[in-house]
Amino acid sequence: MSSGPDVGGRPRLLGEYDMDFSYVLYVSEMSDECGDGEIIDILNTSRKNNVKKSVTGMLIRKDRMFLQYIEGPEAQVRELFEKIKSDERHRDIRVVHQGPITDRVFFDWEMGFADELNIQPLQWKWELDKLSLFSLAEGADDCLNFVKAFMGTPGLAANSPSC
Ligand SMILES: Cc1cc2nc3c(=O)[nH]c(=O)nc-3n(C[C@H](O)[C@H](O)[C@H](O)COP(=O)(O)O)c2cc1C
Repeated sequence: MSSGPDVGGRPRLLGEYDMDFSYVLYVSEMSDECGDGEIIDILNTSRKNNVKKSVTGMLIRKDRMFLQYIEGPEAQVRELFEKIKSDERHRDIRVVHQGPITDRVFFDWEMGFADELNIQPLQWKWELDKLSLFSLAEGADDCLNFVKAFMGTPGLAANSPSC
């Protein structure tokens, strides 16, 4: 049994049927030198690289914290997460959930993004005005449900920082 999100069977891409899939959900703190320009670079790199590696997911920035979900072929996700962990634009990386997954949550998102402004449609339900991303991550299942709610919110896929 997969411990990954149950999202009701979104299709895999052609050529992926015999691959093991996995996902990682983590939170981290932005380093002092990380600002909007760096986030735009991260998003541009992610959207360019992830499409080639068949990785999909989302990144949320709030109050100098990140929450990121990545998923795709197991080897690609492992390799990417190793790179992400050693990236000096953030620190204090805490894995909330990781493991095998049967189907993608983010079928066609190279890297969705939201910050304070465009996360507002989700704010009321998750009390994000009161809760930090690190506190949200303490309730691991809740955090995963938040990711799924994000996926169901129109207009977040191609965002960049709202500066
Ligand atoms: C919070 C955060 C999220 C990131 N997410 C991704 C990602 O999804 N895909 C990616 O390729 N790089 C991501 N990066 C950047 C990687 O750490 C690394 O800089 C990049 O993959 C290097 O790409 P290159 O080998 O093409 O230069 C992220 C970095 C940070 C700080």
